[in-house]
Order: sequence, then C-alpha cells, then structure tokens
Amino acid sequence: MALHVEFLLLWVCWLHSVIGPEYEETITHLPEIKDGKCFFPFYYRNEVFYDCMKLKTKHKWCSLNETYQGYWKYCSEEDFAKCVFPFWYRHMIYRDCTEDGDAFGKKWCSLTQHYNKDKIWKYCD
Ligand SMILES: *[C@@H]1O[C@H](CO)[C@@H](O)[C@H](O)[C@H]1NC(C)=O
Repeated sequence: MALHVEFLLLWVCWLHSVIGPEYEETITHLPEIKDGKCFFPFYYRNEVFYDCMKLKTKHKWCSLNETYQGYWKYCSEEDFAKCVFPFWYRHMIYRDCTEDGDAFGKKWCSLTQHYNKDKIWKYCD
C-alpha cells in the first residue's frame, strides 16, 4: 500500500515537471514597457503581489495589468508600493511609519488601510 502511494507521488511529480513549464509559456512576455505604471496588487501565477517582486529575475519588476498579461517593467524608486496612511494596526490608527510590533524595532508601514485584515506591509526607508 505504502509503495503504491509513493509511486503515485512520483508520477504526480513527474507529470508536474513535464506539464509545468509548458503551462507557464502560454503567456507571451513582451519587452519591458519603461514608461508603464505598476498595477498593485497584481496577480501572477495565481499569486497576489502587493509590491515589486523578484522571481528568477535580477531586478525587481511589476505587472502593468491587474492580472499579468505580458506587460511589465523593472521597478525604479518611484514604482515600489507606497505606504498607505492612515492605516489601522491593532486598535490604533497610524499616520506615519511605526516600530510597533516589529521584532527588530525597525519602522514599517502598511500597504493597505487595514493592516489587521490584509497584513500587507513593508519596511520604511
Ligand atoms: C495592460 O497594460 C498595458 C500597459 O499599461 C495596456 O497597454 C493594456 O491595454 C493593458 N491590458 C488590458 C487588457 O487592460
């Protein structure tokens, strides 16, 4: 019985490795659109991204559409997701970056108005 399960897992893994890459290639990656505007949050491979991200790339990039359609750009300073003020954290409203709740005492901010619900954040520079 255990052997059967193992075989099944192997087979599923093999299937995934064979089909996976092909599936990814269904999107045509267009050349970078340098004057484009990042769309946050954006969906890429069934994941949601709230900021520029690095995925098998040298530089961080973002999608220009809500769901990635091949339109993209590398992020420069002004493209990165911005803090959203004011935002709710626990029972307080914050109008600035805060160290509250950060294990390292570094200032952070929420990228949406409702941190409690969304839990999307970044460190402030
Ligand atoms: C996606 O974004 C690009 C660049 O901003 C735009 O030209 C294109 O029309 C958008 N596609 C859709 C389906 O909205």
